[in-house]
Amino acid sequence: MTTRAFPDGFVWGAATAAYQIEGGWNEDGKGESIWDRFCHLPYRVSNGDTGDVACDHYHRWAEDVALMQSLGLKGYRMSIAWTRVLPEGRGRVNTRGLDFYDRLVDKLLAAGIRPNVTLNHWDLPQAIQDVGGWPNRDTVEWFADYARVVFDRLGDRVSLWATHNEPMVIAFLGYEVGIFAPGIADMTQALQTVHHLLLSHGRAVQVFRQGNYRGKIGIVLNISPYQPATDSEADRQACQRLDELYTRIFADPLFKARYPELVSSWLKPHAPKVKDGDMAIISQSIDFLGVNYYNKSAVAFEHEGGLLKLSSRNISAPNLGTTEMGWGIYPDGLREVLVDVHTRYRVPEVYVTENGCAAVDQPDKSGFVDDRERIDFMRAHFRAAHQAIEQGVPLKGFFCWSLMDNFEWSRGYGKRFGMVWVDYQTQKRVLKASANWYRDVIARNALED
Ligand code: FCB
Repeated sequence: MTTRAFPDGFVWGAATAAYQIEGGWNEDGKGESIWDRFCHLPYRVSNGDTGDVACDHYHRWAEDVALMQSLGLKGYRMSIAWTRVLPEGRGRVNTRGLDFYDRLVDKLLAAGIRPNVTLNHWDLPQAIQDVGGWPNRDTVEWFADYARVVFDRLGDRVSLWATHNEPMVIAFLGYEVGIFAPGIADMTQALQTVHHLLLSHGRAVQVFRQGNYRGKIGIVLNISPYQPATDSEADRQACQRLDELYTRIFADPLFKARYPELVSSWLKPHAPKVKDGDMAIISQSIDFLGVNYYNKSAVAFEHEGGLLKLSSRNISAPNLGTTEMGWGIYPDGLREVLVDVHTRYRVPEVYVTENGCAAVDQPDKSGFVDDRERIDFMRAHFRAAHQAIEQGVPLKGFFCWSLMDNFEWSRGYGKRFGMVWVDYQTQKRVLKASANWYRDVIARNALED
């Protein structure tokens, strides 16, 4: 057995998102978000599930913080529901919404847990979607205004701020494929969304710098490594196209102030409108990059493969299977991605802001869940993170997805990602074996491997 020690001050954490856990969807003056609307439409989400109640965290937040404290978490990644703070997305501020997050942040700090707050984890106000949503350039300034309201209230206590979570999912699953809210399938809108998400990120960073708030600011990208299915030139180019579409389209503007070549070639008929000065706003320096990592894919050229003529499939590392989401398990892909972003972009700090797996969790008679698969998954990914540190990546923390079982977007409550079991009937929480295991890792700041 080897002991892999992590650097002093390494932030071991867990992550959640507002819509996935809070519930209280229309309480205390909260407005409707695109996810509220989407889930209330028929057949959009498995089993007709909605986030109306979710884990009822809106009422059980104090109990949930106590749970985090019992695990010894150093950090907690959460998001703010834009519609609690500004029910119509702009204009009128709902103080009760801000009060909720204010109390939560104080409670976390009192428990010795550092808040890592994401401003946009997908739940755009419906009132903004009604006037065009992310493809509408006005949304950029509305986001910056929202950011200012939140910074003014919490900016003295939050250590890490992220503007957006996984802009790739918003743009492509929300506006190009349409399987996520707001359910639009239109490549032109998707690419305009890409640009406006990036621009609004840059504007929020400007607001943050101007206001001299405490803490650091960055963005969270989901990054999968892609490999060509074969060594053929056609597959290698297809692989590059997918990497440019899903990853470089965000990372290159952020760190190199330019879009990848794909935007002016294959995507030209749908290219976003960009104004002079936009790229400078987008590429302002940030303090950290958050990386969400779940899986790795092989990409092949495919005549019938849509606009970009390709197909991709998830792959597993030798002898490792797939998770309950059907995603291949490939722990070394995490090391690969971390080393890659460090080599290409040299960001001052990197965090793993999400990583985890859905598993078939069956409580035994006493209600205990012995989720060994999840422990194996976590161990292998912590090892990969440690190897990335050894290879020079300035990795400062690791936030496991997720603290507790929650609403898994279009898959509803069927997929459980938590280290804590949630009984959705009673809202009772029970630590799974993985939570106990994680507590030991945190206490030692080391992995026994
Ligand atoms: C990510 C999301 C997160 C969660 C995990 C499983 O794409 O950011 O909210 O649903 O996937």
